[in-house]
Amino acid sequence: MADRLTIHKDGTACYDIVYATDLQVLRDELQRLGFLERRCCIITDTNVAPLYAERIADLIARAGDQAGRDPGSDPSDAKGNSNRPQIYAIPAGEEHKNLDEIRSLYRFLIENHYDRKSYLIALGGGVVGDMTGFAAATYLRGIDFIQIPTTLLAQADSSIGGKTGVDFEGYKNMVGAFYMPKLVFADVEFLKSLEGRQFVSGFAEIMKHALIKDEEYYSWLIDHQYEIQDKDLVVLHEMLVRSNEIKRDVVEKDPYEKKDRMLLNFGHTIGHAIEKFKDFSLTHGECVALGCVAAAFISYQKKYLSWEEYYEIRDMFVPFGLPISETALDHEEILRLTKSDKKTQDGLTRFILLRSVGDAFIDTTVTDTDILAALDEIDWDKKNVD
Ligand SMILES: NC(=O)c1ccc[n+]([C@@H]2O[C@H](COP(=O)([O-])OP(=O)(O)OC[C@H]3O[C@@H](n4cnc5c(N)ncnc54)[C@H](O)[C@@H]3O)[C@@H](O)[C@H]2O)c1
Ligand SMILES: [Zn+2]
Repeated sequence: MADRLTIHKDGTACYDIVYATDLQVLRDELQRLGFLERRCCIITDTNVAPLYAERIADLIARAGDQAGRDPGSDPSDAKGNSNRPQIYAIPAGEEHKNLDEIRSLYRFLIENHYDRKSYLIALGGGVVGDMTGFAAATYLRGIDFIQIPTTLLAQADSSIGGKTGVDFEGYKNMVGAFYMPKLVFADVEFLKSLEGRQFVSGFAEIMKHALIKDEEYYSWLIDHQYEIQDKDLVVLHEMLVRSNEIKRDVVEKDPYEKKDRMLLNFGHTIGHAIEKFKDFSLTHGECVALGCVAAAFISYQKKYLSWEEYYEIRDMFVPFGLPISETALDHEEILRLTKSDKKTQDGLTRFILLRSVGDAFIDTTVTDTDILAALDEIDWDKKNVD
């Protein structure tokens, strides 16, 4: 399996995703990029900080010393080491993915004199990655950043493609920028400390990749479900590479989501609406799984998928521990929330549907009635009363 993928933009190499379980490889990559001579701040969250941040800071401090980096007037940390990156921990959780936290982060960067040559490391899940990328895109009109994703969701999906941003008053990812990292370092060992519900959350995006683009990968996922659940590192590595290749192909073709990249929103219109409706009490992946089932149901209703195909897709989420129905859904409210999702343009909701497994397309004919019928389908209460 590949130990590196290169993501291109406008035909030229833009950044690499490097797969390794040895932090020395990270050190070598930072050296290759000339980053050991530069100052950096590790942005993480309060859960990941005690697990991994010190280790990464130590590695960079030692490597900076060896590279002869002059710390200049950098403030020393508690250990008196001025070559050591500072660690900034955002409170963990989607509810903190907002502009207030970005404001606190800007203040920290300003007070500690980070300049244009400094870079940020996003060490954490998709929330940390999206926020750090957004801060990097905007601080001093843009400074470099790298991604060290620590959740399955972030390794498989959110750390690549350059979408960064925050939620605004509960609306998902309403404020943001396209901004590419300089490196993505994916270490599957990080996944070992991830608790079950967060681990499986990443499968929704992985399944999405297979459903929209690659039937063969979809079968591979079914065949390897037990190794994946057991966190077999070799199988997880192969799965990440395959998911990343699919995302790479889509984002290289359409980096700014003018058309094809919209396919990656499969399951997200209804998924995001449920995420907001449930006030972020469900994980992103759980909501995406529900959204994928709903979108597959609409594809069946519109006669693209057979009933058997729809059932098979729906039931595929179950062994991976993802929901295919949910209780206490207010259908009218969720329908209203789908309209404020960014996928609505000129009053038309751009819905991603499936012609078959591995073949997604953009549809603009999905009606409110279709969405309400799909919500009936994933409504546990309704199904169990009827
Ligand atoms: N930019 C994109 O293209 C893109 C794509 C998909 C999703 N997203 C975004 O990603 C976010 C979801 O990401 P997520 O699922 O990674 O959530 P997350 O970042 O909130 O991480 C989930 C939880 O796991 C903890 N955690 C992270 N790594 C850990 C580890 N190795 N061990 C133990 N605990 C760990 C975190 O502290 C958090 O509590 C959403 O905001 C979503 O909108 C962005
Ligand atoms: Zn997503």
